[in-house]
Amino acid sequence: MATYISHSPAETEALGEKLGRVAQRGLVIALSGDLGAGKTQFVRGLARGLGVAGRVHSPTFTLVNEYGGGRLPLFHLDLYRLETAEQIRSAGIEEFLSPEGVSVIEWAERIANEEGRMKNEENAKRMVRVRIEIMSETERKIIYDDFGA
Ligand SMILES: Nc1ncnc2c1ncn2[C@@H]1O[C@H](COP(=O)(O)OP(=O)(O)OP(=O)(O)O)[C@@H](O)[C@H]1O
Ligand SMILES: [Mg+2]
Repeated sequence: MATYISHSPAETEALGEKLGRVAQRGLVIALSGDLGAGKTQFVRGLARGLGVAGRVHSPTFTLVNEYGGGRLPLFHLDLYRLETAEQIRSAGIEEFLSPEGVSVIEWAERIANEEGRMKNEENAKRMVRVRIEIMSETERKIIYDDFGA
């Protein structure tokens, strides 16, 4: 695990960008943290690191936003609205847990059970967990599985 203190949205984006530059096909990034922590901000950097052009917004009416045009396709999921186990089961997220590109999942804590199932070594290599904690208005503590940045 690594810890990074971010002092601005730009610094949070820059960490995402570093991860985007080294991301391999099949990587799943599990983001957690409170409302307004900076998860979407992190995804903006990730997209930039992958060379994806265009704007990044959380999917609100769909499960996933797909961004192309980069080194690899980026699948952006936001599970905030999935509250019950049944909603999670029927949402169809399985395919994004072994993506033909890179998946990034906001509110990944919603699928804590599925994450538990993914703990075998094969999958662990393909998953990076990133937790963003709000320290103050502009300061964030970002705790993440080391990806060699
Ligand atoms: N160091 C920082 N890193 C990231 N965001 C910051 C930082 N300091 C302030 N902010 C602000 O916090 C907000 C983060 O919003 P963002 O949408 O990225 O959060 P989120 O975690 O995706 O929230 P949600 O759970 O609602 O999707 C933005 O308004 C951003 O400007
Ligand atoms: Mg968000």
